[in-house]
Amino acid sequence: MRTILVTGGTGFIGTHTAVALQQKGYNVVIADNLSNSNEDSVDRIEKITGIRAEFIKVDLSKELECKLLFETHNNIEGIINFAAFKAVGESCEKPIEYYKNNLGILLNILENMKKHNIKYIVHSSSCTVYGQPDKLPIKEDSPTQFAESPYGNTKQMAEDILHFTTQTNNIKAIALRYFNPIGAHDSGIIGELPNGIPNNLMPFITQTAIGKRKALTVFGNDYPTPDGTCIRDYIHVVDLAEAHVVAMDRFFENKNKSNLEYFNIGTGNGFSVLEVIKSFEKTSGIKLNYVIGPRRAGDIIQIWADTQYAEKELGWKAKKTLDQMTLSSWNWEKELSKK
Ligand code: UD1
Repeated sequence: MRTILVTGGTGFIGTHTAVALQQKGYNVVIADNLSNSNEDSVDRIEKITGIRAEFIKVDLSKELECKLLFETHNNIEGIINFAAFKAVGESCEKPIEYYKNNLGILLNILENMKKHNIKYIVHSSSCTVYGQPDKLPIKEDSPTQFAESPYGNTKQMAEDILHFTTQTNNIKAIALRYFNPIGAHDSGIIGELPNGIPNNLMPFITQTAIGKRKALTVFGNDYPTPDGTCIRDYIHVVDLAEAHVVAMDRFFENKNKSNLEYFNIGTGNGFSVLEVIKSFEKTSGIKLNYVIGPRRAGDIIQIWADTQYAEKELGWKAKKTLDQMTLSSWNWEKELSKK
């Protein structure tokens, strides 16, 4: 059985990926500092798969802690790196912390991969590297643009670091550029647990519907889009988790075309903020309280993925619809409110 280290494995995408990896027959070791998640995620994963993952509480941005993890786990064959700070707004207030944490973690991991001859890493990147594209849908070889935030910049810099480190160190990497992950596992046992007031659309919608927030503000309805609101490519987190398993399989099947590969992980469909609200109202049966507000600084107008390359090369395609995403997010919010 191959052992995969999942960093940030108790978080939103990490938990769903740990489940998918275990279900594919991988042995999963989870590392997380629990700065934005909870150790009971490990129980929840076990509840779904029946398999207990080993959990290590560790701050991978600290050189010594990271070193110790790799010294005490000599069976790791691949790494999926989710560990990072991820709040766009916060990153503008604390840029140094974001660079130190997000890039420090990656560098510490790479250093130990080299030392222990671990060859494979799947890294969590983002469509934010593209900025506002001139041409849609966006392909992997489209130029990246100057980032709007330190968070986005850490995603770009991480790809650059991977580009150069994979040229000399016998390391192969895949950067998955996620579009907008939403939804939750069908079991209702794992999902997104945002700290404090959510920044992202979907948790804000479900928290408003459940009564935790008074109203959702739609950030601008005067954009040059059909209904005036911004368009994004929302992807179900279960489909996204599956993409990580397929990427990891690709290493072991020796299918890589180069030492660093990039893939768009989206559905290829763009939906506006109002369309997401409409889908949510339909699947939940709840009329959402929302108001139209001013534009949010830094928002791009519209983006959606060209998914052809991922389909052809990875043999992966997102399966779930927007309605399945909004329904599962809602089921998860209801589950949370029972506690
Ligand atoms: C952001 C980041 C992206 C990151 C993602 C998930 C950028 C440009 N994008 O995406 O890299 O992967 O978060 O963490 O930095 N909206 C509202 N009201 C709200 C919240 C959101 O109208 O209360 C709208 C936004 O204006 C946007 C859409 O909903 O049009 C989606 O927003 P959000 O969920 O925050 O994701 P992004 O900004 O697209």
